[in-house]
Amino acid sequence: MQDKSKGWSGRFSEPVDALVKRYTASVAFDKRLAEFDIQGSLAHASMLAAQGIISKEDLAAIERGLAEILQEIRSGRFEWSIDLEDVHLNIEKRLTDKVGDAGKRLHTGRSRNDQVATDVRLWLRTAVDDILGLIRRLQLTLLDLAEQHADTVMPGYTHLQVAQPVTFGHHLMAYFEMLKRDAERLTDCRRRINRLPLGATALAGSSFPLDRESVARSLGFEGVCENSLDAVSDRDFAIEFTAAAALLMTHLSRLSEELILWSSPRFGFISIADRYCTGSSIMPQKKNPDVPELVRGKTGRINGHLVALLTLMKGQPLAYNKDNQEDKEPLFDTVDTLVDTLTLYADLMRGIQVNKAAMRQAVLEGFATATDLADYLVKKGLPFRDAHEAVARAVRHAEAKGCDLSDLSLEELRAFCALVDADVYGVLTPEGSLASRRHIGGTAPEQVRAAIARARKALGCD
Ligand code: ARG
Repeated sequence: MQDKSKGWSGRFSEPVDALVKRYTASVAFDKRLAEFDIQGSLAHASMLAAQGIISKEDLAAIERGLAEILQEIRSGRFEWSIDLEDVHLNIEKRLTDKVGDAGKRLHTGRSRNDQVATDVRLWLRTAVDDILGLIRRLQLTLLDLAEQHADTVMPGYTHLQVAQPVTFGHHLMAYFEMLKRDAERLTDCRRRINRLPLGATALAGSSFPLDRESVARSLGFEGVCENSLDAVSDRDFAIEFTAAAALLMTHLSRLSEELILWSSPRFGFISIADRYCTGSSIMPQKKNPDVPELVRGKTGRINGHLVALLTLMKGQPLAYNKDNQEDKEPLFDTVDTLVDTLTLYADLMRGIQVNKAAMRQAVLEGFATATDLADYLVKKGLPFRDAHEAVARAVRHAEAKGCDLSDLSLEELRAFCALVDADVYGVLTPEGSLASRRHIGGTAPEQVRAAIARARKALGCD
């Protein structure tokens, strides 16, 4: 005898192979969509009743049954069965057990193809909103830290060689900008997630007089997917989200790399709170920055999910194919990883200890104001290339003496270029260098403070 509970067994003459059952089932992971599946079913059922496709009594029975099922799921009492393949069939079967024929009518004018696409969109929309909230939290942490360090001098690097002085606040604000664009990308992608597939049914639409717009409105969608084939088959919204997530993780990975460098004893610029570090089982002195290392590592996994989703789509003919069931695990893991990473970083960044003296010392050891000296000579009339050459020789001299450019006497400096006057020391100090970069986007403390003020205003918290 065939098991009739499945919803599609009538066509078959023998039970499905045990391994095939396990191989094709998705309930182990898609049960996570349950609340959204119920939301979608309630909206669909109301519309069916409003259109006279099912009776008011059937609607009432469906609503009662789904409310009970929701409670069962929330309290962990719901019994998920792999025999029922996925979240949709599990819930539908339970509903039918509870309310009889009304439950069997719920699937009128609907297919699991448009149902699952709807569930994933509803779920992802909520996830995007959570992630946007977490990005904002991290941004606020960065703003507070940047404000405390608007004057803190540190070396700016190119090629990981000391280049020019910047403020630590300015450096942090670079990450604020990256996160701002990440939030913009997610907000933009949310608009395309937020469209209703229901009504597309299996692929061709429905012969019932469905009111798709009303379902879209009641589920908070901005509109309906306008082509039924496209609605059930494309997962570009999930790919786009994962691409935005990969970029966000890439930004956090770069921050991680810096946290790891800065907290190594050679740099000694920061220390990370002990609760985010671990020790070594053999080397008693070690305090390892595991969290940033894992953020850097997990970025690889999100990039992998993006490639997985792109690859999943690329060979599929229209419309729905079971391949699409494989969209969920990468997507779920992407969201979980992002949520944990952002949550951890908002707190980790708030707790870092900054060693200002070590940062300043690194600036002084790196001839970071050499460009300032060249600019100074240019302002006195020397062509830039000649100024570059004169300063390079002065750096060589200071290096041989084991001192900074600002430690050279006026006579020593004049030996490289007669245009040098006593006012040169104003530009040779890290603070003088910072103060001179006072245009928008520059590292002068006043500009960093202005950038922070603009950022707070943009976040609506001034
Ligand atoms: N579990 C399926 C998925 O995730 C639901 C849709 C199944 N549709 C079908 N025609 N078998 O995609």
